[in-house]
Amino acid sequence: ALVSAKEMLTKAKQGKYAVGQFNINNLEWTKAILLTAEEMKSPVILGVSEGAGKYMCGYKTVVGMVNGMLEELKITVPVALHLDHGSYDGALACIEAGFSSVMFDGSHYPIEENIKKTKELVSICNSKGLSIEAEVGSIGGEEDGVVGAGECADPNECKAIADLGVTMLAAGIGNIHGKYPENWPGLSFETLDAVQQKTGDMPLVLHGGTGIPEDMIKKAISLGVAKINVNTECQLAFQEATRKYIEEGKDLSGKGFDPRKLLAPGFEAIKATVKEKMELFGSVGKA
Ligand code: G3H
Ligand code: ZN
Repeated sequence: ALVSAKEMLTKAKQGKYAVGQFNINNLEWTKAILLTAEEMKSPVILGVSEGAGKYMCGYKTVVGMVNGMLEELKITVPVALHLDHGSYDGALACIEAGFSSVMFDGSHYPIEENIKKTKELVSICNSKGLSIEAEVGSIGGEEDGVVGAGECADPNECKAIADLGVTMLAAGIGNIHGKYPENWPGLSFETLDAVQQKTGDMPLVLHGGTGIPEDMIKKAISLGVAKINVNTECQLAFQEATRKYIEEGKDLSGKGFDPRKLLAPGFEAIKATVKEKMELFGSVGKA
């Protein structure tokens, strides 16, 4: 059964590793991530953006698919199903549909409004045993229509949000969704350090995990990051493998047009990407 992300993230923060959040889009994505987590004996968080939720017909379909897979693939590692960058209404809908975790991204509101809305959702999630992520500062770039300016979080605002009783906190530290530009100055470890000083045991979340150099990932984990979100990297791996299969003409030969064959290379590419990230984040064997 699905679990809240609280226990896996508390353990990760204490053990100085991070749990990966991998965003899902369809059956192949979900199956690839769950099978890899099971093979790696790693806890995992399945991320669903509001756009991806709509694409998959709605949150109830997502919950049904994921619960079915947990049972039929015999998944034993801890799995949380988490709304990514949710609105207030989106969070309520996911709670209702059976998600085990939600993110309320109130980072575009004035801080008072972010605090007010986060507080309301914290009390609902607490009463149901669900985990909740909040965001302060903003993640640069765009993901599924959610656009961020990329300004670094104010550590005092982070403390104010952390004190509401959220499970995990995403702080903008110069991270960006999607590919990083050539002239990206890197993560602001000064900000991260200051946020961790103010928020103590709070598991911190690093968004925009695609393309962050390994040494920065490791340093971020050493400074309190316990959850790292990866989305674009799986998409790039999937498209590259699928493109190669088609360009080699394999879709034209034999039964290569069979969707189960056509989607197989992309599926394997997602598995390889997720495995690599779990190794880098240190979550292998931690289930
Ligand atoms: O919320 C999801 C992530 O922050 C993913 O970022 O697409 O840059 O890996 P990414
Ligand atoms: Zn994000």
